[in-house]
Amino acid sequence: MTTTPLPAGPPDDKGAFVREMFARIAPRYDVTNRVLTAGMDERWRRRAIRLLAPPHGGRILDLCCGTGDIAFHLLRTDPSLQVTGVDFCAPMLEAARRRAAAQAPMAVTFVEGDVSALPFEDRSFDGATMGFSMRNVVDIDRTLQEIRRVLRPGARVVNLDVSKARNRAWKACFDLYFYHVVPLVGGLVGGSKDAYAYLPQSLTHHPSAEQLVERFTAAGFRDAGYVPLMGGAIAIHYGIAP
Ligand SMILES: C[S@@+](CC[C@H](N)C(=O)[O-])C[C@H]1O[C@@H](n2cnc3c(N)ncnc32)[C@H](O)[C@@H]1O
Repeated sequence: MTTTPLPAGPPDDKGAFVREMFARIAPRYDVTNRVLTAGMDERWRRRAIRLLAPPHGGRILDLCCGTGDIAFHLLRTDPSLQVTGVDFCAPMLEAARRRAAAQAPMAVTFVEGDVSALPFEDRSFDGATMGFSMRNVVDIDRTLQEIRRVLRPGARVVNLDVSKARNRAWKACFDLYFYHVVPLVGGLVGGSKDAYAYLPQSLTHHPSAEQLVERFTAAGFRDAGYVPLMGGAIAIHYGIAP
């Protein structure tokens, strides 16, 4: 299999590489997701939002919001929420803003920024979501600390992402799909085989589900844990800000 290697050198290179890659796939990102997951990604997002249980009227931060899928789900679930999406890829944000403009007026704002240095005040949100992105951030620990910083005490964070199934036979099946089929289909539907070859690679060095729980705890979140979906190939991690 051909994969696009991450650039060698300082971590900043990874950020630039990831931003450029998402800029390339932004125009067809949504449709490619639906095809690659057979529409199941939408169900997983709704599950993550149920776990978040956002307070009525609360301010919710959607980290690495991309084209806004989770942000729009949040508002469909409860139109009283005030949702802010943050992402560092301008073309993804433009797609999110176009989608917002095409819908009924809603309380959503999309802000350009890096999740490892969030442009928000301490304790300014009542909940946070992150979807399919933790694998892409340069510094997971710093990002988790930033999330904790901007959450009010008692607010929850949920993080939906691909994970590593514990059952070896199932993991082998999923890896076959993720490392071989995703780049092919991503290339055909999403228009960039290279980008969709990188995405599975981002899982290789990602912590296991249990290790990620430890990182949430180390960042100061209490009652951290995760819900496995699809036999653990997908996981929703959660924690509560102290
Ligand atoms: C796979 S997309 C996920 C988008 C959306 N959350 C979803 O569920 O479809 C990953 C997003 O993370 C963004 N991203 C990656 N690293 C980031 C960082 N350090 N700061 C802000 N955004 C980042 C990318 O620009 C991209 O839009």
